[in-house]
Amino acid sequence: MNENQENLLEAAKTVLEMNNQGTYTIPAAGMYPHQWLWDSCFIAIGIRHYDTERAKMELLSLLRGQWANGMLPNMILSSTSRKVRHGSVWRSWVSPHAPDDVSTSGITQPPMLAEAIVQVGKKMKSAERRSWYKTMYPALLAYHQWLYRERDPHSEGLVLQIHPWETGLDNTPPWIQELRDHQMPMWIRAAEKLRMEPLFNVFRHDVQFVPSAQRLNTIDALVFYSVQRRLRRKSYDISRILNHSLFAIEDATFNAILIRANEHLVDIAKTISRELPEDLQTSIEKSKVAYEQLWDQYSNQYYSREFITHRLLKVPSIATLMPLYAGHITQERAERLVRLLEDSHQFGTDFPIPSVPLNSEWFNTHAYWQGPTWINTNWLIIEGLKRYGFHDHAEALTETTIDLVQQSGFYEYFSPIDGSPAGINNFSWTAALTIDFLSKNKRK
Ligand code: GLC
Repeated sequence: MNENQENLLEAAKTVLEMNNQGTYTIPAAGMYPHQWLWDSCFIAIGIRHYDTERAKMELLSLLRGQWANGMLPNMILSSTSRKVRHGSVWRSWVSPHAPDDVSTSGITQPPMLAEAIVQVGKKMKSAERRSWYKTMYPALLAYHQWLYRERDPHSEGLVLQIHPWETGLDNTPPWIQELRDHQMPMWIRAAEKLRMEPLFNVFRHDVQFVPSAQRLNTIDALVFYSVQRRLRRKSYDISRILNHSLFAIEDATFNAILIRANEHLVDIAKTISRELPEDLQTSIEKSKVAYEQLWDQYSNQYYSREFITHRLLKVPSIATLMPLYAGHITQERAERLVRLLEDSHQFGTDFPIPSVPLNSEWFNTHAYWQGPTWINTNWLIIEGLKRYGFHDHAEALTETTIDLVQQSGFYEYFSPIDGSPAGINNFSWTAALTIDFLSKNKRK
C-alpha cells in the first residue's frame, strides 16, 4: 500500500469510529441514526480487517431486531434518537412477531447476512470459526426459512418484496415506474397536479441533510409513505397484505443476493455438521432455476418481475448485473453482462458502475439510485467478476473505486461521469468497503 492509501485506510477507520454506537455502527450521523440491516453487513466486512470482535458484535447486534417469525428488519430504531418519530411511523408493535424491547421497521432488506458471517469468519482459525457459525446459524436459518415461507407463497423459488426499501436500491427506476403506474393514491395525484410538493417537503427528514435533487422526489416519497402505511394497517401480516394488494415484486437484486446467501448458508451448515431442512433445500435449488425466468431474450438483460402476473419490469438498472454476484448463471451469460459493463453508453462510464445505465431516460448523475455510483454495488459486482474469472475487470474496478473515494471522500454516492460526491458525507459502508478493497488489493 502506498502512503496515500495508508492515509485513506486510516481516514476510513476514523469514519467508522465516528459512527460507532458501541455495539453497532450507524450509516451516517444525523441522516441515518439507526442500525440498518445490509449496511451493518457491509460495515462488518470492512471492520473485520482490524477488529474481528467489533465485526462480530456488529452482526450480533442485528439479531436484537429479529422477529419471532424469523424476519430481520431493515432498521432497528435507536432508542436515543428520534424514537418517537420513526417508531410511530412503523409501530412494529402492531405485529405479534415484533420484539418487545426494541422498535424496528416492518420490512426487510437484501439478505447479505450470510455473506457477512462468512467474510468475518475468514478472519478466524477453524475452531473459532465453527463456534462463530454455531452462534449465528439458528438466526440465519430462521431468516432464510422466513424468506421462503412468507415471501415465496407459491413456491416459485423467487421471493417477493413489498416496499422499495426492501431492495436497498430505494428509488430504482423499475420500482418507481411500477409505483407511479399502479400505486398512486388519488390524494397524491391531486397533490402532484396542484404542485403541492413543496408543502410536503417540510415533513422530509433526508432533505434537511442533503439537497433535494439528490434524493427521491417528494411525490415518490409520498407514495413510499402510503405503501408503508398500508403495510402497517395490515400489521405486517403477509397473507393480509397479499390478499388486498397487488403490489409485490420479485426483485432481481434481492433474489440474486439470496442465491449467493443460500450458498453460504449451505457451507455454514456443512462446516458445523447441521442438516438443512428438506423444504429449504428444495427452495434453494428451485431459486437458481427460477431466476432464469427474469432473463429477457430480446434485450439480453435481467429484470425484476411483478409477482402476480409475472410481467417483467423492463426498465434497465444495475440489477441486470447482479447475477454475476449470485454466481448461478452460465459463463456465456456472464460474458454478455460483462459486455454491458464495458459499453460506454451503458455501464462503462469513467467512474463506474452507474446505478442506471447512461443511455436510460432515467439517468441522472446525482439522483440517489437513478444514476450515481455506489460502493456497495461495486463490491458485489467485483465479487461476481472474480467468480467468473474476469480478474482484470475486477482489479480495474477495484482500483477505480479506491481512486474515486480517494478523490471525492467517503460520500454515500458519486457521479459516474466525473466522480463528484453526493448524498451524505462520512458514510459507513463507503468507508468499510474501501478498507476491504485496500486490504485485498494486489498492487500494494
Ligand atoms: C439509503 C439506501 C439504503 C441504505 C440506507 C441506510 O436508504 O438506499 O440502501 O440501507 O440508506 O444507509
